[in-house]
Amino acid sequence: TKEEMEQRVQEIKQTLGDSLFIPGHHYQKDEVIQFADAVGDSLQLAQVSAENPKATYIVFCGVHFMAETADILTNNDQNVLLPDMRAGCSMADMADIHQTERAWSSLQTIFGDSIVPLTYVNSTAAIKSFVGKHGGTTVTSSNAHNMVNWAFSQKERILFLPDQHLGRNTASDIGIGLDEMAIWDPINNELLFEGDVERIKVILWKGHCSVHENFTLSNVEDVRKNDPSMNIIVHPECRKEVVDASDYNGSTNHIIRTIEQANPGTAWAIGTEMNLVQRLIDQHPDKQIISLNPHMCPCLTMNRIDLAHLLWCLESIISGKPVNHIKVSQDVSTNAALALHRMFHSL
Ligand code: 13P
Ligand code: SF4
Repeated sequence: TKEEMEQRVQEIKQTLGDSLFIPGHHYQKDEVIQFADAVGDSLQLAQVSAENPKATYIVFCGVHFMAETADILTNNDQNVLLPDMRAGCSMADMADIHQTERAWSSLQTIFGDSIVPLTYVNSTAAIKSFVGKHGGTTVTSSNAHNMVNWAFSQKERILFLPDQHLGRNTASDIGIGLDEMAIWDPINNELLFEGDVERIKVILWKGHCSVHENFTLSNVEDVRKNDPSMNIIVHPECRKEVVDASDYNGSTNHIIRTIEQANPGTAWAIGTEMNLVQRLIDQHPDKQIISLNPHMCPCLTMNRIDLAHLLWCLESIISGKPVNHIKVSQDVSTNAALALHRMFHSL
């Protein structure tokens, strides 16, 4: 039963003590989050894992690219396990390393050495490594403005992987016009842009988050019509038209802070992943909170991690045969770490 599984997870946590650390992303289910030693966004979780050197086992409750980042930032004696290998990320999967190498070589032909690559942390270790090798850095949704400004202090143009929406929203916020942004189509290996390519400042990889793309302009219009007093806040992985029509936008942590600081009695429609929206609804009964999209928008891969998989993974440690070990190869890890450390040092 659920109760038995919960009790067993508690027992294992007690047995393993400090040698076990369980980070949990904000988008995880409550049945998993209740056992997390730290709850945060993807980057915070990788950082806190690295700050816990006693933890020989890091059971990462999040998705594959986050577990990879934790492996890159932790030391060699620490083992990162992902409770279900099917917990991938459709956005990260939209930029594969072969497509990226191919795109880079085409872009060098068009623009020469005037481009620096940037990647959202929501990308594979191989992409982070590529970016590190070519003088670029990673960005998160909370530091994207700073990092895009940093990139422009290095080169005239940037290639932004893999989320076109975060790239477009951020570039637009720092004053770059839509007519200065092109899209890179990785399937057809072509630059989508009309006009003089010399104008291009930002090349947006044609990727997106399948969860945040489900929030639409008509969702915003419906909320405005039904209750004009509602505040609308969305994640910048949403389309630009949705971000523009909303009242506020920001990273997962920014959304949480905004709701925590909002006055009692205020009303909020939130455009981000369902488990987080539901948790905010439960934690703030004094505020009226709804999902911006009535269908709620779950992240199916985040939801692969459930109580049963968490327990299975923990039992494997107890039995001495840990499962689902996420290990990034040394050559990939070195350059990926370079990209991540460039970000930490520029903040
Ligand atoms: P953050 O947690 O960094 O805001 O990222 C959002 C997300 O989509 C995680 O998968
Ligand atoms: Fe990937 Fe989007 Fe799910 Fe985050 S919410 S893990 S970006 S698919």
